[in-house]
Amino acid sequence: MKDIENRTDIISLVDHFYSKVQDDQTIGPIFTQVANVDWSHHLPKMYDFWESILFAKAIYKGNPMLTHFSLNEKASLKEEEFTAWKTIFFNTVDELFVGENAETIKQKAQSIADLMHFKINSPKQKINIV
Ligand code: HEM
Repeated sequence: MKDIENRTDIISLVDHFYSKVQDDQTIGPIFTQVANVDWSHHLPKMYDFWESILFAKAIYKGNPMLTHFSLNEKASLKEEEFTAWKTIFFNTVDELFVGENAETIKQKAQSIADLMHFKINSPKQKINIV
């Protein structure tokens, strides 16, 4: 097994990750039924997102926090959902890659997920939504 070295590797990681996500009972329906995600649009966006995070390239333009705040109005984004998301992400990385970048992308995913979980479920955010 090799490390995550370039965009081709990111594409492989992201494609495998969302293939598992779609089959997951906890978060799959949020993508396929609640958000009714257009994969031809979402996947390239996620390639850009992870390439920006891992290789410090400013190619992703967007605001993931805002996207998930509005998603949280339509679906449950709580401990169970974030645990499912992180478990699938970590397992996908570990199945495909090994090395420094593989460890880094898991740490980044963990930090962003934990921050997102905290912000979405903090009392201040609940007041803003109401
Ligand atoms: C409970 C966990 C999560 C669920 C159920 C979830 C679900 C979704 C869905 C359904 C979308 C598509 C929204 C749309 O196209 O209308 C989306 C977009 C996105 N998600 Fe998540 N997500 C989760 C956690 C995360 C985490 C932890 C990250 C980052 C580490 C992340 C990064 C993104 C990004 C970058 C986008 C694209 C935002 C944009 O620019 O439009 N998500 N997510």
